[in-house]
Amino acid sequence: MAEAISLTRHILQQQRLHAQATGEFSAIMAQIALAGKMIARDLSHAGLIDILGSTGEVNVQGEEVQKLDQKANETFVKVFEYSPVVKTLISEEMEEPVTIAHAERTGKYALFFDPLDGSSNIDVNAPLGSIFSIHRLDEREVSTPQAALLKRGSEQVAAGYLLYGASTVLVYTCGDGVHQFTLDPGIGEFLLSATKLQMPARGKIYSTNEGNRQKWLEPVQRFVNYLQETDAATGRPYSSRYTGCLVADVHRILLKGGLYLYPGEVKKPEGKLRLMYEAAPLSFVVEQAGGLGSTGVERINTIQPKAPHQRVPLVIGSRDDVTLLEQFMKGAV
Ligand code: AHG
Ligand code: MN
Ligand code: MN
Repeated sequence: MAEAISLTRHILQQQRLHAQATGEFSAIMAQIALAGKMIARDLSHAGLIDILGSTGEVNVQGEEVQKLDQKANETFVKVFEYSPVVKTLISEEMEEPVTIAHAERTGKYALFFDPLDGSSNIDVNAPLGSIFSIHRLDEREVSTPQAALLKRGSEQVAAGYLLYGASTVLVYTCGDGVHQFTLDPGIGEFLLSATKLQMPARGKIYSTNEGNRQKWLEPVQRFVNYLQETDAATGRPYSSRYTGCLVADVHRILLKGGLYLYPGEVKKPEGKLRLMYEAAPLSFVVEQAGGLGSTGVERINTIQPKAPHQRVPLVIGSRDDVTLLEQFMKGAV
């Protein structure tokens, strides 16, 4: 068995490769890993303590907040409360950005996160995730603190996710490839399980909520019909896989190829997923592995955000599959 490389050791090695990297990044990643371990622990016995079900509250997204959404959010806030490095937290579960008092003067980073992704899976023990995106805060360049937060996905310092499945996996990139760590519960450490992940240019899987088909734009309907036709030369029909957890579905696509679609709809052209802490971080990871993150019309990570909780349509996965969908959207196919 290969020598066990912990997340901490891996990041220190990465830092030596990048002279400008400072210990701050490893401090942030260590806190994210800690939050992941704490959330994995809560999920592992959710059925035994009173943290299933709904809080009865509705969040800024207009979605009912599950108790575990709130607990996962509190976990992230708690682990960063005394960090001098991250100044601002922006969460799917918090309407306004939160400034960390300890980092008011020293903090150079903002952390965007979806504390618990796939919330409809909580009560049925199906996969869940957490998604994170790290930006440097250059407030000198902009007029207001809010404007300092609205940076393109292409400016992310690092991004990744935790996947709480049969095992707990942490996947991240800081622009030098995609690395995967698996939590060894026996020692409470994330150990390197794959490095420099690269996805196939095309796959044979598509992942989408078919229940929304009649609300999709016509080119998307034609594209999914195309994937379902039989043609051995192009590996069709593709297999359909959809868990209701974006992180789990994108992780499958990252490892096996294919594409995930949460497209815009006739009455909701902006779609459901959030740009800053779902589409942009996952697009950074997938593009570092050779794939593509798109709205179906433009690359996710070139979009200039207008608001922290902005929604976007998302088509993400193997480069050729996503590009083909874009061709359908242009009417070229
Ligand atoms: P979240 O639980 O953070 O709100 O995210 C849920 C997202 C994503 O994880 C998943 O792919 C999608 O919503 C599921 O939406 P539908 O239930 O509409 O398919
Ligand atoms: Mn989510
Ligand atoms: Mn969520």
